[in-house]
Amino acid sequence: MTAAVHRLLVLDDQPEAAAVRAFVASGAWRNAAAFQRLATRNPRYEVYAFDLPGAGTPCILKIAQATPAGHRFARRLEALVSHLAHDPARRALRGARRLAQNGIPTFRPLACWTARRGGIFRDSFLLYAQIPAGHSLKDYKLGATGLEPAANARAFDALVAPLADLVADLHRRGLRHDDLACGNFLVGTDGGLRLIDVDHVQTARLRRWPRLKRCFDLNDLRRLDLDDVRMDAFLRRYLGADDAPGWRRVFAFWRAGGNRPFRWLRRRLGLRRASVRA
Ligand SMILES: Nc1ncnc2c1ncn2[C@@H]1O[C@H](COP(=O)(O)OP(=O)(O)OP(=O)(O)O)[C@@H](O)[C@H]1O
Ligand SMILES: [Mg+2]
Repeated sequence: MTAAVHRLLVLDDQPEAAAVRAFVASGAWRNAAAFQRLATRNPRYEVYAFDLPGAGTPCILKIAQATPAGHRFARRLEALVSHLAHDPARRALRGARRLAQNGIPTFRPLACWTARRGGIFRDSFLLYAQIPAGHSLKDYKLGATGLEPAANARAFDALVAPLADLVADLHRRGLRHDDLACGNFLVGTDGGLRLIDVDHVQTARLRRWPRLKRCFDLNDLRRLDLDDVRMDAFLRRYLGADDAPGWRRVFAFWRAGGNRPFRWLRRRLGLRRASVRA
């Protein structure tokens, strides 16, 4: 286990810092098979849950592969370029800190580093504390919470207003997430929502032009995969006093693929399959 760890960043203000340093130095993170693997949609990531040795904190290790095997060649190349340009773990760590500084509930990052695991390029590792959460909003959407269908639907309905408030708060604070999908909102055991998957959190530009800013804020909602009725309730709450057909049209434009016009056109011409997101 002598292969080097690079770009190690441990958040020393966290109570687990010493245990985190010992864990990274031990190389135990290389033996991910000893951890519990969690499902992820993106073949670029491996996500594992385990208790941090020496501290006992339930943690998540999210590994971004430099050259994901599951991708086609062009996607692989694209992923590699992006991986080399912006270390995804470091970006996520920064994203989580930025959210926390702005009072947006998310996970607690502990460390990030890069290391080679057999390949030519270094994979990127992010270690963070697990959120005590039962389910994600996606589980409510799929009816996979273990609740009776009617109770599941009621609980899901009740989460729409807090969801709209959280997203409105995020945007009011001049931040955007870029992957606001149901799978990225965890429902904590305290009932509160937490936003995860924060590699793409960014500060909004154009903040001095609120109407223009709002146009791009609505783009941030394009992946929010709620059904029509809940989406309507969400938008009513999110837009509040500004709810107007014009803003709904801007949202519909982004939703239909306005930020990727070529992809939209290819889909329209039947050259590309519609994206399937459960
Ligand atoms: N801090 C956390 N606490 C508890 N569970 C977590 C945490 N972070 C991630 N998970 C679990 O791991 C799964 C994948 O995490 P994440 O969203 O970061 O990766 P992803 O590759 O984007 O996956 P997906 O495409 O399913 O959203 C989540 O759906 C969630 O169930
Ligand atoms: Mg996710």
